[in-house]
Amino acid sequence: MTVCEFRAGLEGVPATQSSISFVDGQKGILEYRGIPIQELAAKSTFLETAYLLIWNELPTRDVLADFEHEIQYHRRLKYRIRDMMKCFPESGHPMDALQASAAALGLFYSKRALDDPAYIRAAVVRILAKVPTMVAAFQLIRKGNDPVQPRDDLSYAANFLYMLSEQEPDPFAARIFDVSLMLHAEHTINASTFSAMVTASTLTDPYAVIASAVGTLAGPLHGGASEEVVEMLEEIGSVENVRPFLEDRLERKQRIMGFGHRVYKVKDPRAIILQQLAEQLFEKFGQDKFYDIAVELEQVVEEKLGHRGIFPNVDFYSGLVYRKLGIPTDLFTPVFAISRAAGWLAHWKEQLGENRIFRPTQIYTGLHSAPYVPIDERQQKLPPEG
Ligand code: ACO
Repeated sequence: MTVCEFRAGLEGVPATQSSISFVDGQKGILEYRGIPIQELAAKSTFLETAYLLIWNELPTRDVLADFEHEIQYHRRLKYRIRDMMKCFPESGHPMDALQASAAALGLFYSKRALDDPAYIRAAVVRILAKVPTMVAAFQLIRKGNDPVQPRDDLSYAANFLYMLSEQEPDPFAARIFDVSLMLHAEHTINASTFSAMVTASTLTDPYAVIASAVGTLAGPLHGGASEEVVEMLEEIGSVENVRPFLEDRLERKQRIMGFGHRVYKVKDPRAIILQQLAEQLFEKFGQDKFYDIAVELEQVVEEKLGHRGIFPNVDFYSGLVYRKLGIPTDLFTPVFAISRAAGWLAHWKEQLGENRIFRPTQIYTGLHSAPYVPIDERQQKLPPEG
């Protein structure tokens, strides 16, 4: 079979067959293993959902308890990983710190047995357990403090919030954070998942798979958008300034962060739930000055861009939820990585099940049989960069 049509960004080109998640971008449907996201958000937990995504079945109470227990047991970092993180520049972005630390896990757990289910399970457990600890550790290290040890008596979500602030979180706040982790856990073949799959298809180790996905998630067109949403709301500053800000930005052909999606042409179902979570948090812990600005912005964007299918995406309200939970702005994307690690691992496992190395083709647009000009006869056409 020869496929010659070039689609920029591989838009609409199937890159795999998968049974992990399903999106209908016209109807605003997202399902994990066939279960609507709304149902999971109301009834499940992040670790239960991660298990569902990775092993394709909802765990029984006992199986889930074992899984949670194993994850608790593996939350700690080796002291040499903590020491390595202490050498990172404190001004570095936490996503870079996470990418480097995730890759470093491969140095410490170098045995690779990709056809052994026990190895797969151990790698899944280790990654889900340690990614939150690494994110929290860098946060404390860059403030000049020693990282705190994880607490075994706290749930996955509560323990992360505890490791960040060194204070036990309110159970309601921890539950909201857990739901937010679930909502970000998986989303078909987005850029970072594709990156994970390409890396996985070479049969490298799972830590390299996660490191490569983290690097891809970091960009502002993908996971990095939630940070930029909060910065944009800060820049807007008041409800009155929303319309002039938007008109100016659109006139200068700039994008409005947190809006638009390659697949969704309606409001992202995750944004609907996250907005509800934000409202619940504000009701319990006090309003956020940016919320009214965000709601007004959504209305004006809908008025101006709705006819082009540009509506809030998952990143629009997630930043407001994270802010209220006390998470610093530049940790929003690492927090996204904590949840998306579940989806990356599910795709890693699925890829291994029926692996073929990714090797797409290209449409060559360069020269043929070009002359080789000797160095002394060359004329520089382009100014040197830099
Ligand atoms: N603001 C203004 N215009 C937009 C926006 C936006 N947020 N999104 C798309 N458009 C416009 C583009 O300018 C383009 O217009 P044109 O045809 O006149 O050139 C048109 O809509 C199509 O844009 P594409 O970039 O081709 O659409 P694509 O489906 O490839 O992009 C993307 C999706 C990258 C998410 C885009 O909507 C965007 O840049 N949004 C802002 C960044 C963002 O919020 N990213 C997070 C996405 S969710 C996630 O990754 C977890």
